[in-house]
Amino acid sequence: THWKILISCWVWIPDPEEVWKSAELLKDYKPGDKVLQLRLEEGKDLEYSLDPKTKELPPLRNPDILVGENDLTALSYLHEPAVLHNLKVRFIDSKLIYTYCGIVLVAINPYEQLPIYGEDIINAYSGQNMGDMDPHIFAVAEEAYKQMARDERNQSIIVSGESGAGKTVSAKYAMRYFATVSGSASEANVEEKVLASNPIMESIGNAKTTRNDNSSRFGKYIEIGFDKRYRIIGANMRTYLLEKSRVVFQAEEERNYHIFYQLCASAALPEFKTLRLGNANYFHYTKQGGSPVIDGVDDAKEMMNTRQACTLLGISDSYQMGIFRILAGILHLGNVEFASRDSDSCTIPPKHEPLTIFCDLMGVEYEEMAHWLCHRKLATATETYIKPISKLHAINARDALAKHIYANLFNWIVDHVNKALHATVKQHSFIGVLDIYGFETFEINSFEQFCINYANEKLQQQFNMHVFKLEQEEYMKEQIPWTLIDFYDNQPCINLIEAKMGVLDLLDEECKMPKGSDDSWAQKLYNTHLNKCALFEKPRMSNKAFIIKHFADKVEYQCEGFLEKNKDTVYEEQIKVLKSSKFKLLPELFQDEEKVLSPTSATPSGRVPLSRMPIKPAKARPGQASKEHKKTVGHQVSLKIDFSSSQIVKVLNLYTPVNEFEERVLVSFIRTIQVRLRDRKDSPQLLMDAKHIFPVTFPFNPSSLALETIQIPASLGLGFISRV
Ligand SMILES: Nc1ncnc2c1ncn2[C@@H]1O[C@H](COP(=O)(O)OP(=O)(O)OP(=O)(O)O)[C@@H](O)[C@H]1O
Ligand SMILES: [Mg+2]
Repeated sequence: THWKILISCWVWIPDPEEVWKSAELLKDYKPGDKVLQLRLEEGKDLEYSLDPKTKELPPLRNPDILVGENDLTALSYLHEPAVLHNLKVRFIDSKLIYTYCGIVLVAINPYEQLPIYGEDIINAYSGQNMGDMDPHIFAVAEEAYKQMARDERNQSIIVSGESGAGKTVSAKYAMRYFATVSGSASEANVEEKVLASNPIMESIGNAKTTRNDNSSRFGKYIEIGFDKRYRIIGANMRTYLLEKSRVVFQAEEERNYHIFYQLCASAALPEFKTLRLGNANYFHYTKQGGSPVIDGVDDAKEMMNTRQACTLLGISDSYQMGIFRILAGILHLGNVEFASRDSDSCTIPPKHEPLTIFCDLMGVEYEEMAHWLCHRKLATATETYIKPISKLHAINARDALAKHIYANLFNWIVDHVNKALHATVKQHSFIGVLDIYGFETFEINSFEQFCINYANEKLQQQFNMHVFKLEQEEYMKEQIPWTLIDFYDNQPCINLIEAKMGVLDLLDEECKMPKGSDDSWAQKLYNTHLNKCALFEKPRMSNKAFIIKHFADKVEYQCEGFLEKNKDTVYEEQIKVLKSSKFKLLPELFQDEEKVLSPTSATPSGRVPLSRMPIKPAKARPGQASKEHKKTVGHQVSLKIDFSSSQIVKVLNLYTPVNEFEERVLVSFIRTIQVRLRDRKDSPQLLMDAKHIFPVTFPFNPSSLALETIQIPASLGLGFISRV
């Protein structure tokens, strides 16, 4: 077709600086034209050459009246520049950080405290319809709460986005909302306990990275339980993939887990004297990033918050001291040094202070620990013998031990928090909130980023499945004539990572080889995937790195260290020493480990594909998940966020008077319209004509105009709508 200038026609053209710039079309465009005559908004005229191959026209700009819409699906044109422009206008002009895209809430991180989270605002959203109020995280929470009660169905809120986007903050506001609107009447203050789990988990699972001062280094899924009257009665959380490497290493300008700095900042407290703590710059495990302080954060004060939250959750003072003891022990362990005796063996300096303190704090024998830090036991079929290890090996084993203790402590705390939040009365329903670490890419990316990005890839796939794929399949099954949406399918990328002969499979294989190395693994990756998988590349200048094209970005991973991190070797004899500790808590941490530890001296307690993650379990509800999923999908047919069809639905909305809304926009109604539209070649563009401006919002927001007052432009050929 061709464009004719009627009023004025604006387009978006790519710009290296501003990403997109808008320009007005000065001359009619006819098919075959090689250039467009444009005038940039800033006044400059420009001849815009069209790609001779694709002949693709630039995306059209929405009429001004639509800009600032609170639901992106209300835009006439929904493409990248339209989305970005709309979000920008809302944010810059009106400080609005929330916008809907159908049932999805898009949030912009304002990086400043906005006065929109008070109790008055919570009350304002409580009981309201999503469409009646400004977009808000509270509106999403309210919707989940309402649907749980109205439809008797459990709900989930999934928060996703790159690192620093505001996921954890949003998840906390959602939890606060539930705690406020559905607080229990009992004296137990369950909802306060549920909220108190946040500071605890953040202190042991969050850290400063170059992207976010409070970056979650683990994934968390919390299910908030409700009783029959929809009051909070408890919660249960699962955690995923804690970044253990951070315990022993931090990149430049990053920190270890907050809790370590909170401890160091509280070193002078009388009750902490025995921990022999000091400045965070004194410990190898807290000083490597060279950035022990976060602007605006008082670690000593945070420590008080952490302790208070622990107390609220029933973790007794003596248990708390036990936890701090172990954490301090980890710091001292990190300062243990080794001296090479020869290339295959090493020693620890006599009466080495860091080790003395470590052994004191852990309640274990110095001589025994010192011995097993420098030796390992090897078992063959017929005999076992003891062998010294090199200095490098010893350092790696020390670090592996520190990580192992920390990870077990982390899990122990999660267990305890779960016990404290365990409902004492029967749970009727739940709302789940998923907050994971965001997709990330740094200058140097290693195994941890690989795991995080793999997890995000899985999550995105889950989202796609939920929002697009299953819905479209449903249409197809029902033979609804719907234009298929071209959404990004992550499955090829997930296959590259987790399928047989995929990146992880090859990594596991390499780990089993006696002479396996990062380099030979890299070679195997190249041999298997290079030029065969479009999502896999090799950097031109390196033989020790690979690139994966993730949904969010291309990421280059350095192979060095992958094998070691995947194997995560912990020496059993060291664990045995810790288990012999006279302190109760330490053996408790390693209680469940018998099954995991293999009879050989080294125990690969490595990663398991995400789908089979051994996770701290939330209570299983057999058979419920799949049943529920089906119901959800069926239900979604009437709550579309289908981009290409939103134009049509929008018009339906416009011509649907308020009180008849629910009845009129039924599947059957839409289907009838679709059948009528099916044969129209131009149907996707049906309403994309810039001269027709429809001030409507979608979904849930029927037009306030009365049917009689609306004139359907005859040119649209939609006269039949009023007869349906
Ligand atoms: N709604 C908001 N209002 C004010 N500040 C915010 C908001 N959301 C996020 N921030 C700021 O941004 C910071 C980072 O947000 P947050 O920790 O939630 O990111 P994240 O998405 O969880 O990142 P990661 O994946 O690294 O865990 C917060 O510490 C806070 O300072
Ligand atoms: Mg976070």
